[in-house]
Amino acid sequence: MESKRKIFIETHGCQMNFSDSEIVGSILVDDGHELTKDLKEADVILVNTCSIRDNAEIKVRNRLKQFNVLKRNKPGLLVGLLGCMAERVKENLFDEEKILDLIAGPDAYRDLPQLLRKAEGGQKAINLILSADETYADITPVRMDGNGVAAFISIMRGCENFCSYCVVPYTRGTERSRPHLTILKEARELFDKGFRDVTLLGQNVNSYAWEDAGQKVGFAELIASIAEISPMLRVRFATSHPKDISNELIGVIALHPNICRSIHLPVQSGSSRMLWEMNRNYTREWYLDRISAIRKAIPDCMISTDIISGFCGETEEDHKETLSLMENVAFDYAYMFKYSERPNTLAADTKKDDVPEDVKSRRLQEIINFQGELSLESYKRDIGKTFEVLVEGSSKRSKSQLSGRNSQNKMIVFPGAGQEPGDYVMVRIVECTSATLIGELV
Ligand code: 5AD
Ligand code: SF4
Repeated sequence: MESKRKIFIETHGCQMNFSDSEIVGSILVDDGHELTKDLKEADVILVNTCSIRDNAEIKVRNRLKQFNVLKRNKPGLLVGLLGCMAERVKENLFDEEKILDLIAGPDAYRDLPQLLRKAEGGQKAINLILSADETYADITPVRMDGNGVAAFISIMRGCENFCSYCVVPYTRGTERSRPHLTILKEARELFDKGFRDVTLLGQNVNSYAWEDAGQKVGFAELIASIAEISPMLRVRFATSHPKDISNELIGVIALHPNICRSIHLPVQSGSSRMLWEMNRNYTREWYLDRISAIRKAIPDCMISTDIISGFCGETEEDHKETLSLMENVAFDYAYMFKYSERPNTLAADTKKDDVPEDVKSRRLQEIINFQGELSLESYKRDIGKTFEVLVEGSSKRSKSQLSGRNSQNKMIVFPGAGQEPGDYVMVRIVECTSATLIGELV
């Protein structure tokens, strides 16, 4: 029996996963299915999962328990698990999570219509094949949960950096770039539909490489070509690796006012010894030099980062170096994590996860507290400044308040005067919290 199904897609993890869910949605809609945002009316639930830390996987397993209750009341309901956790745990998942009818890894989404048919026929369906060239280049993602203003564009997949703590090279496979012209086409179409803010996504965007008719296109050329679509289109990117953020790229950003003044540059640790153990391929000094280069060329650039606390062998001295690097850079924003050992990574195979849990927690808390101060200072420095804000919608708290972001990616709330999502307005900042700027129209 083949039928049109109502499909609910739930996404865990990073922006890359959100972008992948939009690709999954598009593949299934093309096969005649319908997407629903209402879990109760769904007859297929797909969970797009993350494996980056153990607690991401625990969250997914708890969610599956909740879906079990739904399935008991609706026996025909199919439940599938997609993405990184599928790729990491593999077919064992069928034994561990009896609820699952279908499992698909990050490179197997084109096979979902067939997998779904197999599952409908009562068989367990699985595809975990990783590909060396799949980029879903020709698929136009359905834009889910969007505001019609900001969208993600996937430009490359996979990662070959093999940071010793990280599971991604194993779950997402070989690094591969999407053809330049398909990216340009997607960005142009988004702009024509009224989108004004695109984020170019990849695990390591600096490694983007494509050849168009004998001409090499690297990330600097790619982002310049997207920015040149229109000065009204804002262009962002995530994530860059500090080891390959080049002067050329910094120069291209500085030259294009519509490439956003906001760079996410995960440092992970302030100690060169830890960076070596993490296989990051740069030192504290190298990182600080890259920050100076950014600040010199783009003085109003916001810089955010990722930090891991309590990695294998981390001493109090290493931890202090992380705090001192944070002070030195004065990050505007940070994502901060406790080290979580992932099976089969280089660190799990060759190092001891030897920082006691209470020490990890205490160090992480010190990092979080310090970043809280730095973020608040960063927001306070904006009081009195005027920014160009791209309106994204009304604020969560009140309909008469509009919200949007500035080029630095900070959220700004202000009393609107009939502006629509997609409009640009000038806003002067009068107050702030540590996560929002509050302003008035000028
Ligand atoms: N434990 C804790 N944090 C991790 N990250 C990646 N792997 C791990 C791990 N095993 C963090 C890094 C990365 C971000 C996406 O997640 O900081 O930049
Ligand atoms: Fe994204 Fe990495 Fe999590 Fe996979 S493991 S969902 S790539 S953050």
